[in-house]
Amino acid sequence: MTRTPFICCNQVYFGNGAVSDLGTVVQRFGAGRVLVVTDRGVRNAGILGEPLSALQRSGIGYAVFDDIKPEPNEGTVDALVAAVRDEKIDAVVGIGGGSVLDCAKVAAILLSRGGRLRDYLGQGKVAGYGLPLILVPTTSGTGSESTPNALFIVDGEKQAVISPYLVPKVAVIDPVVTATAPPHVTAAAGVDALVHACESFTSLRSTSLTEMYSLRAAELIARSIRTAVWQGIDMAAREDMALGSYLAGIAIANAGTGAVHALAYPLGSKHGLSHGISNSVMFLYVSEANIPAAIQKFAILARALGAKTTDMSRREAAYAYVDEIMSIIRDVGLPLSLAEFGVEPSDIHELVTDAMKQTRLLNNNPRVLAQEDIEKIYRHALSGEGCRH
Ligand SMILES: [Fe+2]
Repeated sequence: MTRTPFICCNQVYFGNGAVSDLGTVVQRFGAGRVLVVTDRGVRNAGILGEPLSALQRSGIGYAVFDDIKPEPNEGTVDALVAAVRDEKIDAVVGIGGGSVLDCAKVAAILLSRGGRLRDYLGQGKVAGYGLPLILVPTTSGTGSESTPNALFIVDGEKQAVISPYLVPKVAVIDPVVTATAPPHVTAAAGVDALVHACESFTSLRSTSLTEMYSLRAAELIARSIRTAVWQGIDMAAREDMALGSYLAGIAIANAGTGAVHALAYPLGSKHGLSHGISNSVMFLYVSEANIPAAIQKFAILARALGAKTTDMSRREAAYAYVDEIMSIIRDVGLPLSLAEFGVEPSDIHELVTDAMKQTRLLNNNPRVLAQEDIEKIYRHALSGEGCRH
């Protein structure tokens, strides 16, 4: 049996105000000039001020690229690399949500090892470390700071670069920088993180070690997501969400995600739904399909999400999980039906075809899903009819 090592980043700076240490962190790599990868939303929210000041205080120069688009593609990565190709860059700092962090991961490889994004798509195509990589998440969601994955839309499909060399040297997780995220962003990112916690827990690749991260993440996110969304300045809730999404990221780095993500990806690539929203809208319907395949685990998850299951049978407890996630999605104001996004019944065939290609994720799912199962799940998501309430 070949064992794979447990993946997590080398160093984590966690806590309110942690971005003030960014200059010191970069100095430890002996870097004189860094590339800061970010997007306009982060810049306009004023989040860059403190990290850039921290770099200046340590005498570190920087170039800022702020044109990362949601759901990045090859063009996004090409523009990023071209912007600094003639500069001497010693390290890459990503400050943003999942799209920004994924682009920073790949930039660190391309600026050091050459080639184009397409050369590295798939598993294990990166031969070694790129430039030192430091990631600063500004939303509590993707967990990209913990994972060996970077996702891009290439040839109309969501494709991944997967390599342990994409895991950052340092993650700087500062709940303060997440506090300006508006309710809809906090909600979509937070539900994505919750999906990570739950899908990794029921993944066929889960282990005792990954389950520990998954369960704690589920508890933290479930208890604080509503407050983080509707009282964004509540720092206790923001801390729970930042820690929860980080722990869930470690869980998916090692146990993977499942059919929620597999069925969500085509909604991003074909219908333009954001990663968080597409996962949120499929969460309930995929979960209902999965429950009979993993009653025990879903019963444990239901308790972690806050369900009172003491007097329930194990099966009743497992189905209480569906009620918990539905109430969370409703309470944070996210949609529970695909119809709201203009998806038509005639779109389902293409969605099913694309989802079936996500075998990397479907293979982790606790229930084997045949083509007709996936079609049924999309139909439920479109009509809301699988929703039992
Ligand atoms: Fe995700």
